[in-house]
Amino acid sequence: MPKHVAIIMDGNGRWAKKRLLPRIIGHTNGVKTVKNIVELSRKLNIRVLTLYAFSTENWTRPEEEVKGLMSLLKKYLKNELENMKNNNISFKILGDISKFSQDIQNEINNAIEQTKTNNGLIFNLALNYGSRQEILRAFKILIEKNITNPSIQDISNALYTAGLPDPDLLIRTSGEIRISNFLLWQLAYTEIYITDVLWPDFSEEEFYKAIINFQKRDRRFGGIKEDK
Ligand code: IPE
Ligand code: IPE
Ligand code: MG
Repeated sequence: MPKHVAIIMDGNGRWAKKRLLPRIIGHTNGVKTVKNIVELSRKLNIRVLTLYAFSTENWTRPEEEVKGLMSLLKKYLKNELENMKNNNISFKILGDISKFSQDIQNEINNAIEQTKTNNGLIFNLALNYGSRQEILRAFKILIEKNITNPSIQDISNALYTAGLPDPDLLIRTSGEIRISNFLLWQLAYTEIYITDVLWPDFSEEEFYKAIINFQKRDRRFGGIKEDK
């Protein structure tokens, strides 16, 4: 089993468009998939699940869509906190939440605080996250700490993912073959799985398909395969 699964949840807009519905309905259905995949990850004993929910570049979308996403986020946090507490899930954020409204920041901080001693699934939500911004922030942390000759470990420790294993598996839904500013440092040796399935349609079965595909990969990390 992969210890850490990261997912670029893409295709909500296309899902809605196919049905001649507003994009926000696609996002609303995407939230249902989020709930299912968190629950499934927990049941499968995956150690870390990281979901890319809102990128630093997503602010360039129409104001109405951004507003809609913010209200879905707020509702999600409110509704899911009890569930996370009951299921021993530790909730974390990757990204800079200072750009969000005060009430969303409060919800986020409250969820982090109330789940911080949980030792089950670590659930990272990437919000206002950009990998280049994360790496720049790491540079600044190192400078502040006066670390002038950093090691690879020092850099890893200055990222939002400090202390967590790198993703073993990256899933991207909706067929786009790109990283879109996600975990550039952490994905160095991650296995990548891309499916044409749109995020709101990403079912339990699709998640199993991705994991089974991952289990067939020959991970070499730059070495060579030993003959048996
Ligand atoms: C992913 O779906 C959700 C976010 C990026 C917030 P999109 O909204 O990117 O859906 P498409 O790519 O337009 O289909
Ligand atoms: C990546 O999806 C960001 C998230 C899933 C949050 P986008 O839809 O924003 O990425 P691009 O624009 O297709 O690269
Ligand atoms: Mg997209």
